[in-house]
Amino acid sequence: MLEIKGIELRYGAVKAVRDVSLRVEKGELVTLLGANGAGKSSTLKSIAGVLKPARGTITLNGENISSLSPEQLVRRGVAMVPETRDVFPDLTVDENLQLGAFSRRFDTKAVAATRQQMFELFPLLAERVKQPAGTLSGGQQQQLVIARAMMSNPSLLLLDEPSLGLAPVIVDKIFEMIVALRKSGVTILLVEQNATKAMKISDRNYVLSLGRVAAEGTAAEIAERSDLKSIYLGS
Ligand SMILES: Nc1ncnc2c1ncn2[C@@H]1O[C@H](COP(=O)(O)OP(=O)(O)O)[C@@H](O)[C@H]1O
Ligand SMILES: [Mg+2]
Repeated sequence: MLEIKGIELRYGAVKAVRDVSLRVEKGELVTLLGANGAGKSSTLKSIAGVLKPARGTITLNGENISSLSPEQLVRRGVAMVPETRDVFPDLTVDENLQLGAFSRRFDTKAVAATRQQMFELFPLLAERVKQPAGTLSGGQQQQLVIARAMMSNPSLLLLDEPSLGLAPVIVDKIFEMIVALRKSGVTILLVEQNATKAMKISDRNYVLSLGRVAAEGTAAEIAERSDLKSIYLGS
């Protein structure tokens, strides 16, 4: 589904990603692990069209998407949940969800069906449809931004550190929801600092270090590389 070949990403003179290649097959849950500053968020941004590669290519379902805009990528089935976890605080839960469906707002039947599906996956949101999003807890806001991203009906969901800063019991909940989403058919590329937990639910993993892929493999294969522990466990 997704193939990244030798991308370089920069912010002006700063090289955030030097040389990253990776692939995600349809239906897979793949994680991107690595310490702070490794280039994980930048890699996700490049897939979502927010950051253009200075070198290399990004291919989605056989199409070179390297120069497409974020809007064009949403229409091609890519949705990103950034690490900033931004909700529209003064809008209700329901209004936040409707904004996620903006790209297909005229397809009201399909949007209503996805909304229903999200309420089944995230029952807590159903209880709070009319509540301003700003009044939700951190864990609830995380559920809302994931559900909002799902409202565009993506085939590829990019999740940037969904467990960051949440209490352990909430973190477990979020991971359960990611598993449920994956079962619903969406392909997921997950960025996590919580490597142990992330590798428990993933099919394959990439470890980034200083803007390059340091390792790729199943959880068992990564675990064998004791030299990598300090990198992906961030300690
Ligand atoms: N907006 C930005 N401007 C300049 N440098 C940035 C910006 N965002 C990230 N960087 C730099 O790019 C590198 C990779 O960052 P990032 O992709 O956010 O890493 P990660 O998500 O793995 O923590 C870091 O050195 C970071 O300081
Ligand atoms: Mg990041």
